[in-house]
Formats: sequence, structure tokens, C-alpha cells
Amino acid sequence: MFSDFKRATDFLASKLTQGTPEFAIVLGSGLSKLKDEVDPIEIIPYEEIPDFPQTTVQGHHGTLIYGKIEGKLVLLMSGRFHYYEGYNMQQVTFPFRVFHLLGIKNLIVSNASGGVNPDFQVGDVMLIRDHINLFPEHPLRGKNDENLGPRFPEMSAAYDKEFIQILQETAEKEGISLKSGVYLGLQGPTFETPAEYGMIRILGADAVGMSTVPEVIVARHQGMRVAALSVITDLGGPEIAIPVSHEEVLNAANVAMPQVIRLVKGLIGSV
Ligand code: HPA
Repeated sequence: MFSDFKRATDFLASKLTQGTPEFAIVLGSGLSKLKDEVDPIEIIPYEEIPDFPQTTVQGHHGTLIYGKIEGKLVLLMSGRFHYYEGYNMQQVTFPFRVFHLLGIKNLIVSNASGGVNPDFQVGDVMLIRDHINLFPEHPLRGKNDENLGPRFPEMSAAYDKEFIQILQETAEKEGISLKSGVYLGLQGPTFETPAEYGMIRILGADAVGMSTVPEVIVARHQGMRVAALSVITDLGGPEIAIPVSHEEVLNAANVAMPQVIRLVKGLIGSV
């Protein structure tokens, strides 16, 4: 049982010397400065963790940081595994299986995304209230381990209602104009064509990106509570034919960083 995850879980459990983190936090592209908000207890490079995949993308660093934010124990994942890097869905979602097996009950996910909602601007922070999964492979395809979660997980509230409320209250208190919307997940690594941005808007999404959805599915499969924040780093639509670059994404994410930090702290502090 759980044999695939046992070595990584046992290794990490031995590092969590001050107790089980209350939150796992995933840092998206350009959002690595959130690391500076952690009072670190232990920094664990992915290379040291048995069976853990390794990162390849620029702007990501492969470390887990065990420490405290707002006096609460957290495990921060700096550098995620994207499907477009060539990992399969089991590798993409491996850390989230391990987080659950370590006893972590709450997850905060962050990412950078392209906005298709015409009311959005570059640098906006969007609370993800729901998602549309258009990845070509499903992380739960295959034999189901009932010890981890059900065969047919329900997804009526994948993003925790109470977390959403706390984030909205935090935004109001802090004077942050927090957007709310639906995130559509695609495999990448190409950014979308104008016609694809148009399709994404018609499908009912507000933003599009290349991560998050598989992670949230696996977290929910195991009953973890999830909150997700997305920084709108560029805008797309059928009428917009402006090239997007990875640098631009990183820069815009950097600009929105202080707001993301205040929101994350607000959530952690009030749970
Ligand atoms: N698509 C478009 N723009 C983006 C993305 C994406 O996947 N990620 C960050 N900005």
C-alpha cells in the first residue's frame, strides 16, 4: 500500500521535526519571493528526496521549505512539475500524494496565467473559484487506490468555500482588488493562438495556464482543502495578437507578488 510514495514520505517525515505542516503551498512562475516570508526550519532540495521528480524550467528552483508563516507550520514547494516538461501525470502529482500521506490537510496553489476576461489587467490577482480540465491525460486514470480516495471523486466545490471567503475578506481588509474566476488548464508549452484564447473565453474561463488542475484533482481525491491564486501575467483574446514571453510572465508575477503574499498570510493566519 502506498509503496510508490513510502520512501519519499518516510524521508520527509524525518525532516518535519516540529510537527505536521498545516498548509502545503505551491509557488508558481515568478512567485518564488514568497519563500522570503517563511521562517525556515529545514530546506530540502528535491535531489535529496527519494523518488521525487526533478525540475527543469527556468524561474523554478527545486526545494521544499519547511518553516513557519504567521506562526503556522508550512511546507513550501518551490518548483513544480509541469506536464509539458515531459513528466507523466503520476510524476506531476507525486508531491501531492506525499503531502497527504504526511498528514497535511490544506493546500494553497499559486500560478501565472493568461487572462481572457476582458475586465482583467496584467498584474491582477485572481482567486480561482473553479477550473476546466483540458489536459490530455487525467491524473486519476488507472487503478484506483481506495485508501487514497474514491474511484469517482466529486468536484462540486474543488476550491474550498471557506478559504475563498477568507481570501475575499483579506482582500477587502488589505485594499486588494481581488478578481475571481475560472481557470482553464492546457498542456502547453505553447502560449495560445488568438483563436484559442477566443475559444477559452467562449468555454467560460477567465484565465488559462499550464499547471494547477492536475494538482488540485489529486489533492481533492484525497480530501485536502484547496485554495488557489492566479496572477494574470498577460492578456489574450481573438482580437489580441501580441507576443507573450516567459520573461514577461515572470515580471508581471513579480509585480503582483506583494498582494499574493498578503493574501496567503491572511489565509494562513485565520485558519
Ligand atoms: N497561457 C497564456 N498566458 C500565460 C500562461 C498560459 O498558459 N501562463 C502564464 N501566462
